[in-house]
Amino acid sequence: MSGINYSEKIPNNVNLSEDRTLQRALEQWQPNFINWWDDMGPEGSTDMDVYLRTAVSVDPQGWAQFGHVKMRDYRWGVFMNPGEQDRKIHFGDHIGEKAWQDVPGEHRANLRRIIVTQGDTEPASVEQQRHLGLTAPSMYDLRNLFQINVEEGRHLWAMVYLLHKYFGKDGREEADALLQRNSGNEDNPRILQAFNEKTPDWLSFFMFTYFTDRDGKFQLCALAESAFDPLARTTKFMLTEEAHHMFVGESGVSRTIQRTVDVMNQLKTDDVGKLRAAGVIDLPTIQRYINFHFSVTIDLFGADESSNAATFYSSGLKGRYEEGKRTDDHILKGNSYKILSVENGKLIEKEVPMLNALNEVLRDDYITDSKGGIDRWNRVISKAGIPFTLTAPHKAFHRNIGSLAGAKITPDGRVVSDAEWMAHVGEWLPTNEDRAYVASLMGRCVEPGKFANWIAPPVMGINRQPVDFDYVRFN
Ligand SMILES: [Fe+2]
Ligand SMILES: [Fe+2]
Repeated sequence: MSGINYSEKIPNNVNLSEDRTLQRALEQWQPNFINWWDDMGPEGSTDMDVYLRTAVSVDPQGWAQFGHVKMRDYRWGVFMNPGEQDRKIHFGDHIGEKAWQDVPGEHRANLRRIIVTQGDTEPASVEQQRHLGLTAPSMYDLRNLFQINVEEGRHLWAMVYLLHKYFGKDGREEADALLQRNSGNEDNPRILQAFNEKTPDWLSFFMFTYFTDRDGKFQLCALAESAFDPLARTTKFMLTEEAHHMFVGESGVSRTIQRTVDVMNQLKTDDVGKLRAAGVIDLPTIQRYINFHFSVTIDLFGADESSNAATFYSSGLKGRYEEGKRTDDHILKGNSYKILSVENGKLIEKEVPMLNALNEVLRDDYITDSKGGIDRWNRVISKAGIPFTLTAPHKAFHRNIGSLAGAKITPDGRVVSDAEWMAHVGEWLPTNEDRAYVASLMGRCVEPGKFANWIAPPVMGINRQPVDFDYVRFN
């Protein structure tokens, strides 16, 4: 079960060759995917050999193999975690019934929508990141960017397989459309707004992979609970790959901070002008980037009250984060949950039926998890003896979805007037000047073992290789 067949055109562990029609349909989609990669994938990377990991098994021990490959020759494939025998649905109205090996007619439209929305984010992030290779701060970082890009490509394959296998003609049409929408395209944009934003510089990239790939983790965790067993098994394997993406983000921000505090100590200053003259990213700017990426990402969880969220849960399509570890009845009828809204110029808590608040439940779990990294970043700062603390902004800050959409709330959770917001927003969110300054630091630095001035080297290389290993051969 766990070995993956690489002799086939499409590597897989789902016995693809036993279903000729499906295999042919996916083999017809494959050249369209490669065309998309050539057009929208990492710019100028065609001739490079990149030290990439490729999944060779779904065994948690030793699932990957490393070697130099050209990205367009990467073996994108279809992999699922092994199934559990007699798996039962463990939440919602169907609790205790057998998990579904096929799509029940009444849930078809919703399941398709969930899979398409997840699938759409995968190629979107590749598109958002396609120019970053031109300004990589090191060869090590360039390799990590490319690793993430090929794996997001594989995540697209994972969703396309489900669409082709379980959703017939409309599934095939949706799979085609996943290659036709493009991030930021005015006529045919990606489904979710955060995936139409630019990732203009490497600080944004690290923030994106820390915060937004973590949204991916939470969505995948919720889908890994699904009563639709093929979706649960697929997303479980995707989570194995996702961990590295968040590591790249966390360690990238951490190394940026390390370099900044080192220079602060060398120059004995916290003066932003002096630090910028020295070519590092000042901590207040890092805080503003955190505020931006955190707030944009928590919007991705959707409206705080949502009847769709209730339907998805009760019908067994999407569980909570770590559903299996919770000790309530897993049905949640009659339970309530607190959400925020603004009334008479004040932020208030409102008790609503928990089933309708499941987006908020997932968002709150996400927030707890994402604060962990911020604590670890603060340790870098305090170790350097510098009195500065990074914080996650208040959940209500800079929101664009749900009951808080458009409310003017400060990072510490005070409701303010439009005038006060306008007067201070430049202290809370990256300004044009901040972005221009960060952009000015972005220059290509890709000699093995060399690092751009604004970022510290990593503690270790990839797969126990040295930091100055030739992770990318430019040819
Ligand atoms: Fe992904
Ligand atoms: Fe990811």
